[in-house]
Amino acid sequence: MSPRRSMRVAIVGAGVMAEAMIAGLLADRAVAPAQLVASHPRRDRREMLAERHGITVMASNAEAVHEAEIVVLAVKPQMLGRVMREIAPALTDAQAVLSIVAGATLRTLAVGLGHAAVVRSMPNTPAQIRRGITVWTAAAACTSRQRELARAVLGALGTQHEVDDEEFVAMATALSGTGPTYLFAVMEALIDAGVHTGFPRELAHDLVVATLVGSAEYAAQSDLHPAQLRNAVTSPGGTSAAAIYELEKGRLRTVLSDAVWAAYRRTLELGAQLEEQTSPPEE
Ligand SMILES: NC(=O)c1ccc[n+]([C@@H]2O[C@H](COP(=O)([O-])OP(=O)(O)OC[C@H]3O[C@@H](n4cnc5c(N)ncnc54)[C@H](OP(=O)(O)O)[C@@H]3O)[C@@H](O)[C@H]2O)c1
Repeated sequence: MSPRRSMRVAIVGAGVMAEAMIAGLLADRAVAPAQLVASHPRRDRREMLAERHGITVMASNAEAVHEAEIVVLAVKPQMLGRVMREIAPALTDAQAVLSIVAGATLRTLAVGLGHAAVVRSMPNTPAQIRRGITVWTAAAACTSRQRELARAVLGALGTQHEVDDEEFVAMATALSGTGPTYLFAVMEALIDAGVHTGFPRELAHDLVVATLVGSAEYAAQSDLHPAQLRNAVTSPGGTSAAAIYELEKGRLRTVLSDAVWAAYRRTLELGAQLEEQTSPPEE
């Protein structure tokens, strides 16, 4: 059965990422507005979501999960324990719970919810324009139908990629989840360099952003490795060769590698903290 026919989705913690998911699901017609329920503690936020998207909104997280086939946890990590304790008693065996919470492991989710059918995912911020990439993994207890639902929900944020090994989700948190941060920092540095050489800031901004978007699209469409694309534009004694010399001298590659490793270590630390804080739901 296609998930598009009968999917009922509940989203707990309807913030920025959740709203991107809501917009994507409705645009895909993966779910009718009436089948999409979002919970949020603030009335103004609930009213805004209902008005903007025509979805059902609720103050109670536990009530929101009733009748949903898939429940999305989109709260900040520090709220996760509390929210899991709230919804755990309301879950039924047939439901799947999909988390986008950074660092939250399958074990944290399964223990915190007292529920076996859990999915851990890591999207990234281009999801705001449906150009995100999400890496996800499902617990062994998830059925093929539940995986299909997870695929449809995460597809609302852009591209999704299922992996068997949960460690890849932790690693993706450092590479693609945190990835926009590295590229925004590079963008900012290049814009400042443009201003340093004499460009008005706005023009420097437009040149840098268009160069990054164009280069990324070109690399995505090309069969060549980025190193080959770079070699193709590096003429003997040319400007690229002079620039690359400085990039290597400044340890660009190792700095980026260190940044990814630091983000990965932090992901593991946050994951361990969440596991420690998670106690089994009260009987
Ligand atoms: N943003 C990204 O690019 C990104 C990428 C990958 C993963 N993630 C993960 O996605 C999750 C959400 O991130 P976000 O950027 O969407 O954050 P966000 O905008 O702060 O969304 C979380 C929402 O949950 C609400 N909330 C607070 N307490 C709640 C409760 N008890 N019950 C239900 N809702 C509650 C918050 O309300 P208030 O506004 O009133 O606090 C907020 O609107 C995080 O765990 C993050 O790790 C985000």
